[in-house]
Amino acid sequence: MDPTPARIDLGRLMEQPTADFQSEDSQQLRHDFTRFMMRYKFGMEEIVTKLSILRDEFAHLHDTNPIENVSSRLKNPDSVLEKIGRKGCEPTFESIAEKITDIAGVRVTCSFVSDVYHVFDLLTGQSDVHIVEIRDYITNPKPNGYRSLHALIEVPVFMSDGEVPVLVEVQMRTIAMDFWASLEHKIHYKYRQDVPEALLTGLREAADTARELDATMERLHTEVKTSGELPVELQRKLRGTADVVPDEDFVERLKRLQP
Ligand code: GTP
Ligand code: MG
Repeated sequence: MDPTPARIDLGRLMEQPTADFQSEDSQQLRHDFTRFMMRYKFGMEEIVTKLSILRDEFAHLHDTNPIENVSSRLKNPDSVLEKIGRKGCEPTFESIAEKITDIAGVRVTCSFVSDVYHVFDLLTGQSDVHIVEIRDYITNPKPNGYRSLHALIEVPVFMSDGEVPVLVEVQMRTIAMDFWASLEHKIHYKYRQDVPEALLTGLREAADTARELDATMERLHTEVKTSGELPVELQRKLRGTADVVPDEDFVERLKRLQP
């Protein structure tokens, strides 16, 4: 993992429509806002595609797959507006792009902690992916027990008017961390600021249990990995049944082809 993330390049991110929201014609503002959001949608789709490629490659060419699940979401216009107010953002696209960094969000779940860092390295090692910021809540969990690896990354999106760098927030975590985070989110959603102390304590305990589970699973996984190859039948099962994987007979016929 690259420990020295680059800083947000504001000069490049400012290539947004330079509208002043108050004076702009409503129709034009709607158009500009849509265009602004589309960039995030495309940036997000690029990251999802990159992850799908890695996932498929692992499924077909390796014994194990570090990616369990990939999901994505684009903040809806109402949530962007709500966050503009909450973050004290200027009503300009430049300010929104600078202050609201999670308009495009991608979440990756992995089985093991080592997989989280592996996928992070594979994704951010790509030449068109630029790390803007890393928040490693796995190494440094939040006081409530939250763990996840957050990366703010920038990818180029090619549109009719040229190349635009787009920020995408990627959250990477294990299944256990994800399980915990979704329950914690639900509880906070239900109780807002007033979560009963007993529930908070329970959540912290559950976070410890999830961390122990991750550690145990990692250890068992390493033991299995180092104890030799998986049986061929199981390898085939893990790879799935995609058309691109030839069977043994096909490989024999391939070998018999005359040069
Ligand atoms: P926001 O302004 O809320 O986006 O937070 P931030 O800019 O301080 O960034 P941070 O990295 O702390 O959190 C970004 C996102 O991570 C959140 O929007 C959540 O999706 C997730 N997250 C962060 N902390 C927690 C947590 O304690 N519990 C859960 N369930 N999710 C969290
Ligand atoms: Mg955020």
